[in-house]
Amino acid sequence: MTKVLEAINIHKSYDADTGPVNVLKGLNFHADTNEFISFVGPSGCGKSTLFNIITGLLSPDEGHVLINNRETTGSPSEHLGYVLQKDLLFPWRSVMENVILGLEVRGVSKKKAHEQAGELFKTYHLEGYENKYPSQLSGGMRQRVALMRTMVTRPDIILMDEAYKALDYPLKISLETELLKVVKEQKKTVVFITHDIEEAVTLSDRVYVMKAHPGEIVQEIHIDLQTDARDIPQRRLSPRFNEYYEQIWRSIGTAPLPAA
Ligand SMILES: Nc1ncnc2c1ncn2[C@@H]1O[C@H](COP(=O)(O)OP(=O)(O)OP(=O)(O)O)[C@@H](O)[C@H]1O
Ligand SMILES: [Mg+2]
Repeated sequence: MTKVLEAINIHKSYDADTGPVNVLKGLNFHADTNEFISFVGPSGCGKSTLFNIITGLLSPDEGHVLINNRETTGSPSEHLGYVLQKDLLFPWRSVMENVILGLEVRGVSKKKAHEQAGELFKTYHLEGYENKYPSQLSGGMRQRVALMRTMVTRPDIILMDEAYKALDYPLKISLETELLKVVKEQKKTVVFITHDIEEAVTLSDRVYVMKAHPGEIVQEIHIDLQTDARDIPQRRLSPRFNEYYEQIWRSIGTAPLPAA
């Protein structure tokens, strides 16, 4: 297996009124080609901070981020596409203009960009909304626009921070199925952040469980549901699903609570 993404000994503190707060402490992980990995952990354990460090939006105090064995610490990489926890759409751009932003930046012609984006509007159930503005959409619709904006650039590595949180259940299942298909067929790598243990077990090849205060990885779990089914409900019915669910739940449950 080739490591496409690696984080080595990541440390990060923030300055609070009461002094520096140690958020991430010596964190190491990697993701291989065509691998789906997830981070699960309690609120405040540093998942989004780690995400921002991988994307280069934030610099670590110590440590390194490598993409395809090349150091990218503190700078963005063209191999990465990401969906942030907050959708951050541009309110003055239409839905279509938001979706094709990444293609425009890459110099793709408007005509071609519209063609590429057009297919996604069907998949993400937003046909007819091309010329609306973000303020005219619901939270779940905005989140789908943010997903499309990332997927349209066809990145090798896709980072998602609670990307499906605002979606209703059937749509979430349908887009997760689509994501698994894209990942397996196009040999993508996904780093997925979620609170949802079910979601992590169903989608991932490997799950990193984190604890908070300071944020550290407490367990790494290889998932093998022993099914080729890409259908999400089928995967959840695998007899091994409950074993993994329990293992992760116990791992989170045993993490020490922060000092009062
Ligand atoms: N810009 C900042 N300045 C100071 N402290 C911050 C900043 N950003 C995050 N923190 C603190 O760092 C810790 C980790 O935050 P982070 O957002 O990475 O957690 P998270 O695991 O993503 O949480 P959630 O699951 O709620 O999204 C929290 O205690 C948070 O208060
Ligand atoms: Mg977060």
